[in-house]
Amino acid sequence: GFEQSLRPQRLAHYIGQEQVKDNLSIFIEAARGRSESLDHVLLYGPPGLGKTTLAAVIANEMGVNLRMTSGPAIERPGDLAAVVSSLEPGDVLFIDEIHRLNRAIEEVLYPAMEDFCLDIVVGKGPSAKSIRLDLPPFTLIGATTRAGSLSAPLRDRFGVPLRLEYYEIDPLKEIVMRSAGLFDVKIDDQAAVEIARRSRGTPRISNRLLRRVRDYAQVRGNGTISIDIAKEALEMLQVDSLGLDHIDHKLLTGMIERFRGGPVGLETLAASIGEESVTLEDVYEPYLLQIGFIQRTPRGRIASPLAYEHFGYPLPEQH
Ligand code: ADE
Repeated sequence: GFEQSLRPQRLAHYIGQEQVKDNLSIFIEAARGRSESLDHVLLYGPPGLGKTTLAAVIANEMGVNLRMTSGPAIERPGDLAAVVSSLEPGDVLFIDEIHRLNRAIEEVLYPAMEDFCLDIVVGKGPSAKSIRLDLPPFTLIGATTRAGSLSAPLRDRFGVPLRLEYYEIDPLKEIVMRSAGLFDVKIDDQAAVEIARRSRGTPRISNRLLRRVRDYAQVRGNGTISIDIAKEALEMLQVDSLGLDHIDHKLLTGMIERFRGGPVGLETLAASIGEESVTLEDVYEPYLLQIGFIQRTPRGRIASPLAYEHFGYPLPEQH
């Protein structure tokens, strides 16, 4: 699909995350120079910043196959054994949401990462025995939104931990321009900046907004994305000047109106938007923390004066 075709294939075409790219380019060149597999990589940070894209770029730069799976998909040790035993030397195994691997699988993963072998227990009771399987050298790329949820022994087995950061406006604008080019749609500079500004630091959101604005320009305009068309489309999409959507609004105005700005507990807040607390923590909260709209305290979350101001509420007397 389009999402796939927007993803850069090479490190040189990957926009932003300069520090991550600088590091990776050295380690990739070094591993290639020694004809070795790249050391295991842990990619962590908020959703939508390009973890999957980077894994594909790394595999491509190393000239190896990419096998993709996820923590929840690997339920039993045999599931992991099936995947790793089919790898070719040097291949990249990408495990998304690696923090959701269960402990029994983690135990199997340690020797696989460290010594490229698998110890599998077959049978039950007194006849159970352990079988050791040798694996080809491979690179595990783990991705997670919550590095803190990984067990320390697993985290320590990644030689290259890399944290992805929210993108600044400039690289997001560049991504919007690049994607527009791939869509073969004309876009004004200012319009690209406007989409970038409202993308919550997240390329996945930039590309989603660009698609919708392109639809709007095609139907209501003349196909070119001008600043006026972009603003109209973004207003129709109910994406505000900071990129906050109706769920962010519901969350923050709920905190202000129903809980006097807090502190309010995570579970209570999650219930107020009809989401699970982990979704609130992993998906909605990180950007609101980043822009200083909410703060975490031991007694719960509080809405900051910036949030009051943005939504047009007078500041409370005492906070
Ligand atoms: N598309 C999505 N993320 C991107 C990035 N970081 N660089 C280039 N294109 C992208």
